[in-house]
Amino acid sequence: MIFGRVKSLDAILATAEKKSLHRTLGAFQLTLFGIGCVIGTGIFALTAAGAQKAGPGLMLAFAIAGAICIVAALCYAEIASMIPVAGSAYTYTYAVMGELLAWTVGWALVLEYAVAASAVAVTWSDYFQGTVLREFLGIHLPTWLGAGPLALGGSPGGFVNLPAIVIAMGITGLLIVGTTESARLNTVLVAIKVVALTAFIILTLPVVDTARFNPFLPAGVFGGFGTGVGAVGAAATIFFAYVGFDAVSTAAEETKNPQRNVPIGLIASLLFCTVFYILVAAGAIGTIGGQPIMGPNGIPFPAGSEELARQCALPQYGEALVCSREALAHVLRVIGFSTVGNMLGIAAFVALPSVILVLMFGQTRIFFVMSRDGLLPEVLSRVHPRFKTPHIVTAITGTAVALAAAFLPVGQLADIANAGTLYAFMMVAIAVLILRRTEPNRKRAFRTPAIWLVAPATIAGCVFLFFNLPSAAMLVLPLWGAAGLVIYFLYGRRMSHLGRGITDTDDDIDMIPPGSQ
Ligand code: ALA
Repeated sequence: MIFGRVKSLDAILATAEKKSLHRTLGAFQLTLFGIGCVIGTGIFALTAAGAQKAGPGLMLAFAIAGAICIVAALCYAEIASMIPVAGSAYTYTYAVMGELLAWTVGWALVLEYAVAASAVAVTWSDYFQGTVLREFLGIHLPTWLGAGPLALGGSPGGFVNLPAIVIAMGITGLLIVGTTESARLNTVLVAIKVVALTAFIILTLPVVDTARFNPFLPAGVFGGFGTGVGAVGAAATIFFAYVGFDAVSTAAEETKNPQRNVPIGLIASLLFCTVFYILVAAGAIGTIGGQPIMGPNGIPFPAGSEELARQCALPQYGEALVCSREALAHVLRVIGFSTVGNMLGIAAFVALPSVILVLMFGQTRIFFVMSRDGLLPEVLSRVHPRFKTPHIVTAITGTAVALAAAFLPVGQLADIANAGTLYAFMMVAIAVLILRRTEPNRKRAFRTPAIWLVAPATIAGCVFLFFNLPSAAMLVLPLWGAAGLVIYFLYGRRMSHLGRGITDTDDDIDMIPPGSQ
């Protein structure tokens, strides 16, 4: 039976039991950890792409995406409290819907984690070039070395994004030698990001000109199937600004009183970010304006497209938000706060690498668990004798992240990452519902209230956002999924440990997400 290979929940929990991590995290640390994973490219860079899709409707887009993430977070909270083990959505699906679907989720999580890491690497590169090199050192990197061939914001002529490669490989090196960020460093980095965004809000909101919010929805609410524009098109893109909160659920095993603290950590970090994001979007658009650059047919040019890049090269768009590659620093410079703008650029430069670190860490651990389950070659779960890290899978992941960051623009990377993430979130919501039926009496440290509303809302929200992505990003998921299925039927299905009756071995590597402890 093709869907018949379901991993026993008891076996998974027994493995987790053996590890029994020390429970040290409280609600506050979890919230900080969540904020640390979440604030990054979405707000620091995609504000520009979001404004190109929706204009001032970007504020509505942040609210829509935030609401969908909050219902998804409630589903994560319940399942993570039942199955508090490594592997996140992949493991949950394995225990509930079986190996084949678990494989598709694990495979989609590559998009969530690895592709998202590439997107953040591109943003880091933009802030590095714009603030550190240009503003502080007066160095202009040649265009062909500073962006991929289709980078957003007036960079036609880009060829390879060298700084993005350097940061991705640097973080790969850190992960191989086993550097993991301490909770204290995470707190400092969160504080840096929050102070930078607060300064942005304080400086921009008092000078907002509400006339700039008109028209509020220049591309409408629904921009049209496959166009990725309009308020919901922007929501599908800036959904990326919330990606990563699910990492909080992977720390459930180390949380004191998870019944209370995991949901608080998930929801508090998301609510905090949603409010912040809406205020930042209001400040950015209300000061320098954020109307999209329209194409001849009255539809905004696609963000990250060559046509948009050509428009952005025209002098009248020199200061346009939608053309900026370091959106927030750019806004502050244009309204006369160059020094604070540069400080904000430095904040992004300093804090974004930790987002890349958490995302790449998540990717390597998911590959590790899949390999330990026999679905990927055993060599991927080989552990370095000295560093005790999965060095081979880390090196492969890091190289792939660097290559994607080198040649692809941030907006497209984010959209592709969103496609995979939305699929994983949807599967988690389905898994929670199935478990309510199949395991009604199993202990749940946290029970989602009104699950028969919350989980269907998550499923509907994920499907809805998915169908509002640009068509190219939508297409990636089935293509990527099809490639995954070929690999599964040629390799994983035959080699699966569950299929061959081999029992789990213990993890002998660190599974604790960086920044959580
Ligand atoms: N949410 C994270 C970011 O925006 C991935 O960078």
